[in-house]
Parts: sequence; structure tokens; C-alpha cells
Amino acid sequence: MTLEQAQEKLKQYGQEHVLKYYDQLSETERQSLLAQIEETDMSILAACKNRGELTQKGVITPLAAMQLDEIEAHREQFTQTGLDAIKAGKVGAVLLAGGMGTRLGSDDPKGMYNVGITRTLYIFECLINNLLDVVRQADTWIHLFVMTSDKNDVATRAFLKDHDYFGYQAEYVHFFRQEMAAATDYEGRIYLEEKGKLSTSPNGNGGWYSSMKNTGMLQIVHSAGIEWLNVFAVDNVLQRIADPCFVGATIERECAVGAKVVRKSAPDEKVGVMCLEDGRPSIVEYYELTDELMNAKDENGDPAYNFGVILNYLFREADLAKMMDGLPLHIVEKKIPCLDEAGNPVKPEVPNGFKFENLVLDMIHQLDSCLPFEVVRSREFAPIKNKTGVDSVESARALLLENGINL
Ligand code: UTP
Repeated sequence: MTLEQAQEKLKQYGQEHVLKYYDQLSETERQSLLAQIEETDMSILAACKNRGELTQKGVITPLAAMQLDEIEAHREQFTQTGLDAIKAGKVGAVLLAGGMGTRLGSDDPKGMYNVGITRTLYIFECLINNLLDVVRQADTWIHLFVMTSDKNDVATRAFLKDHDYFGYQAEYVHFFRQEMAAATDYEGRIYLEEKGKLSTSPNGNGGWYSSMKNTGMLQIVHSAGIEWLNVFAVDNVLQRIADPCFVGATIERECAVGAKVVRKSAPDEKVGVMCLEDGRPSIVEYYELTDELMNAKDENGDPAYNFGVILNYLFREADLAKMMDGLPLHIVEKKIPCLDEAGNPVKPEVPNGFKFENLVLDMIHQLDSCLPFEVVRSREFAPIKNKTGVDSVESARALLLENGINL
């Protein structure tokens, strides 16, 4: 992109200020800034002015989950169906590791965090150990796709390689980078991170499928004959990946997606819950849950919105390929490293603007059918979001110990 073309684009979106230091840049820095301006989607930024209107929900009604007793009654059969699919190479795993882990407060990728006490045990190691259980059970390798972002790609690849992928077969590990989105002040003006660089933030975990497409990962998926993709978060150290019983249940119920869910610990617990929205599967976030929905009961007198998602979904890939609509935009407050008025770099202590994201949970609403599949919370849900307190290193360590993992 030439300087004139960049000026024209910036003018259209009211972002001319990002060229403030252009004259001071070297030729290489200029080219890199122009390239960044070219690839940045600026059409989304104005939405921050009316962000309250972005997440309007339709009519919410309950969606029944497959609960533990039903799962137990069919465990053998589901497990066999799932194992057959895994053995036939039809299941792949997608690790979402492109997040910033801001709340944990470590500069390294979250997966590099050591949760061990008397020995080292990294988050990545926990996840790979869990997947290896299924590899052994099915006696076959499972393709593992790892999503990173510009901010942590190099460190993530190097760390896993240096640790020999914690025993995973290297040919079955595929890295891909998600796209970045510009980060702005409260008026939607893009911050500069350096004089020749726009501030950016990963574009949310909902970008995984389009990033797999853009980076050639879907070619691997198709040529390997993978039909199901188990997408999971980096920060739940107890999570079961490519769980044969879950895979089998989703296949047997002929659903486009399966979602692992846990019974809520309290009506106001801060998790998104499964529901129908305008008759289609969906997730209502805890802050969107009205008192009326929170207290609603099903025909058995149980809470009607009682199953929270844990970011472990099994998507039928063919259905994702058919998804036509773009995902809704989420605009979230964030601490954005930037230059101050005088051009000096600052690392803010409090939020100073917005990041723009798509979320994986919004993909559910674009699919025709979803199986919420209950799992035992204390066995499969130990998220690490914070250093201490709720969903923290401390709480996850306690749960790992409870599950017999030596720390
Ligand atoms: P979170 O919503 O907890 O975000 O991610 P985060 O960035 O890791 O942490 P905070 O909010 O800054 O503290 C849930 C999952 O989605 C992935 C994360 O890596 C995690 O596995 N994620 C999130 C991405 O892969 N990309 C993103 O852009 C955002």
C-alpha cells in the first residue's frame, strides 16, 4: 500500500493520527506500518460508540442437557462409537492458546505456566498428558492443532519443541496463528504501540476456524479425513480432550456440535449457560441472565438454565464450512500498551480502551443442533484465570491433587 492509499483509508475511518511519526521512521518501518494499515479491518472500530447494542439477545428458552445418569447408562456404547471414530482418524483437537492471559499476569504464554509444587508441571504438559491418555486408549495419534497469536507464537513453538512436545509425536502437532485486531481508545481511535506500529490484540477465540482456513490447516484436516474438531481452552488443566464417550454421544445424537457443560455451583455463578435462542442452540452469558431466567424451573422443578459451558466443544467440521454469517463483535475494555502524547511508551495499570473480539461460543448459535453433555465438575473443570482466589493457580492445584496428579 502506498502512503497516499493509506492516507485515504485512514481518512475514511478517522484514523489519520497513526501517521503522526511517519516522517521519523526508517524506510523499513514505514513499509511495515503501511502493510499493517492495509491489513487492519477498521470498519469494525466505530462500533465501540454503541457497544451496548451489539449483544441483543433473541427469545431465550431452555435446552436440555444430557445428564450424568443418561451418560452412565450409555457409557459403553458411546465410548465404543467415539473410539471407532478416533481410530479411523476422524477426530482432531484444537488448542486455543492465542489469548493474552492478562489476569494471570505472566508475560509468557499461559501454557508455559508451571503449576507444579515439588516438581515442574506446565499447563501445556497437563493438557498433553490428558490427550495422551486417549492416544493410548485408541492406540492412534490424534492431530493436535495449536492456535497462537503474534504475541506468543515464537515462544509457544520454541517451548513445546524444547520439551519434545511432552511426549507427543511432533508430526501430529500443527501450529497456526490467529489474526490480530486493532486496539483503540474509548473513542475508537487506534493506539500506537510504537511510532511505526499500531496497537493490536488477538481477535478473540472465535477466529479459530477462519484462521485455520487462512493458514492452510483445513487442508491437513481434509486430507487426514478429520470430521470432528474438539476445540478446547489452554487454561483448564483437568480437561479431557477427544474424550471418546463425549465424541460417541455427539455422533450418536447426530448433533452438529457437542458442548461439555458443568452443573452450576450457584444460580449466579459467572459462567455462560446453554439455552435455545429463537429456537436455535445458544449460550447466554452470566451478565445477560435476567433474574427471571436465573430462577426459571424446568418440568422437574430443577433450574432451567443450570448448565455452564467450559469451553470444550466438538464441532462437526462440515457444518462449520457451511456457516455463512460473520460472528457478532464483542468489544471489551482492556489495558493497552501505547504511546503517550509525547510519544513515550506506557504500560497502563488500568483499562484505557477497547479490544475487538469474536467468541467461539457465538458459533454455536449458527449451527442447527447442539448436545450439552454434562461432566463432573471436580474431575474435568479446573480453569486457571487468576493467580489466587476463584479459578486460579491455587484452586487448580487443589483440584489436580484431588484427582491424584502428583505436583
Ligand atoms: P480467556 O477469555 O480467558 O482470555 O480465553 P485470555 O486472553 O486467555 O485471558 P485474559 O482474559 O487476558 O486474562 C479463553 C481461551 O481462549 C483463548 C485463550 O488462550 C484461552 O484458551 N483465546 C482467547 C485465544 O486463543 N485467542 C484470543 O484472542 C482470546
